[in-house]
Amino acid sequence: MKVISHSADGFRNLKNTDIQAHPSMNIIFGENGQGKTNIIESIWLFTGCYSFRTHKNAELVCKNSPFARSQLVFSSNEREQTAQMKITKIKEIKLNGADCTSPREMIGKFSCVVFSPSTLSIIQGAPGERRRLTDVAISLIKPNYAVLMSRYLRTLDQRNALIKKISEKSYPLSTLDAWDEALSTLGAAVISYRLDYIEKLKEKAAAIYGGISSSREKFALEYSFLKSKGETDEKRIKEILFNDLVASREADLRRLYTAGGPHSDDLIITLDGGEARAYGSQGQKRSCALALKLGEAMVMEEVTGEAPVVLLDDVMSELDEGRQRFILNYLDAWQVFITCCDPSALLRSETGKIFEVKNGTVEEKTV
Ligand SMILES: Nc1ncnc2c1ncn2[C@@H]1O[C@H](COP(=O)(O)OP(=O)(O)OP(=O)(O)O)[C@@H](O)[C@H]1O
Ligand SMILES: [Mg+2]
Repeated sequence: MKVISHSADGFRNLKNTDIQAHPSMNIIFGENGQGKTNIIESIWLFTGCYSFRTHKNAELVCKNSPFARSQLVFSSNEREQTAQMKITKIKEIKLNGADCTSPREMIGKFSCVVFSPSTLSIIQGAPGERRRLTDVAISLIKPNYAVLMSRYLRTLDQRNALIKKISEKSYPLSTLDAWDEALSTLGAAVISYRLDYIEKLKEKAAAIYGGISSSREKFALEYSFLKSKGETDEKRIKEILFNDLVASREADLRRLYTAGGPHSDDLIITLDGGEARAYGSQGQKRSCALALKLGEAMVMEEVTGEAPVVLLDDVMSELDEGRQRFILNYLDAWQVFITCCDPSALLRSETGKIFEVKNGTVEEKTV
C-alpha cells in the first residue's frame, strides 16, 4: 500500500495542498499550528474510520468554506486507485469514480496505521480507550468484526433497557434468559476475535519495544479476560459469559446496567511486570504506544499481505536519540509520513521527500 499523491482544500486550514509522495520517507515539517496534523488526519480519513481527533464532520471543514475536498491516489496490490472525499455535514467518498454508500466501504481498501499524540491514551487512558483502539485495529483487517461489535452493543443496550423495566415493573428475572443467551453468544465471538488479534500482536509489539529500548525493559501485553479466566475456546467462553450474566443479575438490577462482559474488558500493558500506565515514564509510555502501533502495522501486513502506510504525528518528542534512531531504521521498508517541527535530526539519517507546511499551504523542499 503506497500513497502516490494527496491533495486537499478547505480541509481545516489546508489550502490547495498537493503532495506528490515519496515511496518511503515523507517528512512534513513546520511550526506549531500550521497544518501538519491536518494533512495526516486527511490521509487517515481515507481508511473509512473516524478521525483520531473528532467524530464531528463540521470540525473538519474550514470555517470559511462550505465544504472540504481531498483526493488520494494510492497503489494497492500494484493497482493505482483514486479516492475523492467531500465533507459537509456528511462525508461523501468516491472510489475510482464510483460512489461509496458510506465511508466504511473504504475499510480494507486503503489501509494505514496512525500514531498521534492521542494514541498515548492506549497507555494512560481508561480501559475504554484501549478497547476502542483495539477494536478499530481489528475492524481494519476483519471488516466483519465491526458488524459483530455493533450487534453486541445493540444487544447490550436491549438487555440494559430490560433491566430498567424489570426494576420498575417487577417482571421476573427469567425474562432476561433470551438476552443473556444472545449476549453471551455474541460476546464470546467478540472475545475470540480480540484473543486472536492480541495473540498476533503481543510478540511483535514486544520485539519492537525491545528494539526501541535496547531491551532495557521487558514489554508484555495481556487481555484481561484471558488473564482472569484462562480460557480461549469460544464455546467455553460463551458458557463462562452466560453463567456470569446469570450470576450477576441481582447486582445488575441494583446498578441498572450490565457490568460484566467484553464491553468492560481491558488490555494490560506491562513493563518488567508493572503496569505501564501507572509506572512508566513519559518516554517509556510513548515507546509502548509506538510498539503497539508498529506491531499493529505488522499484523495488518501479515493478515492482508500488504504493508499499510504508516502515519506518525509528532512521534519523536520525548524520545532519546537511540530510540529515535531505532524507529527510523525500523521504518526503512515502509512508506512513512512523519511530522515534526525541526526536521534536522530526521534529515541526517533519511532519504525521501521533505515538505514544509506554512499557514495551511505545503511546499516541497529539496533535501
Ligand atoms: N475547521 C477549521 N477551520 C479552519 N482552521 C482550522 C480548523 N480546524 C483547525 N484549524 C486550524 O488548523 C491549525 C492546526 O493545524 P494542525 O493541528 O495541523 O497544526 P500542526 O502543524 O500539527 O501544529 P502542532 O505542531 O502544534 O501540532 C490551527 O491553526 C487551527 O486553527
Ligand atoms: Mg500537530
